Amino acid sequence: MRVAVAGGTGWLGKLVVTAATDAGHEVVVISRARGVDLTTGTGLDEALRGVDVVIDVSNIETVSGAKAAAFFETVTRNLQAAEVRAGVKHHVLVSIIGIDRVEWGYYQAKLNQEKVALAGPVPTTVLRAAQFHEFALQSLTRFGGPVALVPAMLSQPVAAREVAVELVRLAEGEPRGQAPELAGPEPLQMADLVRKVARQHGPRKWVLSFPLPGKAGKAMKSGGALPAGPGLRGTQTFDEWLANLR
Ligand SMILES: NC(=O)c1ccc[n+]([C@@H]2O[C@H](COP(=O)([O-])OP(=O)(O)OC[C@H]3O[C@@H](n4cnc5c(N)ncnc54)[C@H](OP(=O)(O)O)[C@@H]3O)[C@@H](O)[C@H]2O)c1
Repeated sequence: MRVAVAGGTGWLGKLVVTAATDAGHEVVVISRARGVDLTTGTGLDEALRGVDVVIDVSNIETVSGAKAAAFFETVTRNLQAAEVRAGVKHHVLVSIIGIDRVEWGYYQAKLNQEKVALAGPVPTTVLRAAQFHEFALQSLTRFGGPVALVPAMLSQPVAAREVAVELVRLAEGEPRGQAPELAGPEPLQMADLVRKVARQHGPRKWVLSFPLPGKAGKAMKSGGALPAGPGLRGTQTFDEWLANLR
């Protein structure tokens, strides 16, 4: 198959490119660095020529719910419109466990993205994943300075590599709407994970855990981001992932 990976240069995207290549697919990487802009549509028609499936793992890093909402909705509408023109048969989207239970701006933006994608013109599969193990490293390195602020949050993190492999497996199958959620093997406190990364890998920083305000904070603290049902479970533990981190 010819598979386009939207956001194929990101944390998850690079692993999706590897998983799709390892599975024997021809891969097209979509990102601004590769000359394609998903918000304006520049270069999109050329990139999707001959593509069978699109896996969308693009992202915007922002604390603004409104910016996230505008990005994810525009990207999905632009992608699916171009997919129709190119004859793409299947749209696969990565999403996040708990976005329907935690009323946080970025999560609401992802929930709206799911709705737009599932109601759109291209048959769609959505995979909700837990926070990646990599999220702890992202939280540590996102901002400079000696302190990392981490929201108090119970999570069941999963290796991004396992999410990538599952996205490719889903892309190879028929569109199925919401797929079973994919979480990791054990529920853990996010701040503890960030502290472990700081200690065992670096950069060394003070890690301060703070409750997100309001209902979202309560929901995060009390397990709103944990998987709600049986679903799929990755096998690599956080400690195994950290031991292999270079
Ligand atoms: N991090 C987690 O724990 C977690 C958990 C579950 C689900 N997710 C979801 O996984 C997805 C990927 O997250 P990530 O942390 O891997 O993302 P990331 O590292 O921030 O990568 C974002 C990707 O999107 C591309 N991109 C951004 N704006 C673009 C634009 N206008 N046009 C074309 N490409 C654009 C970037 O490339 P350029 O900069 O070159 O454009 C990059 O390849 C997100 O949808 C996120 O919600 C994340």
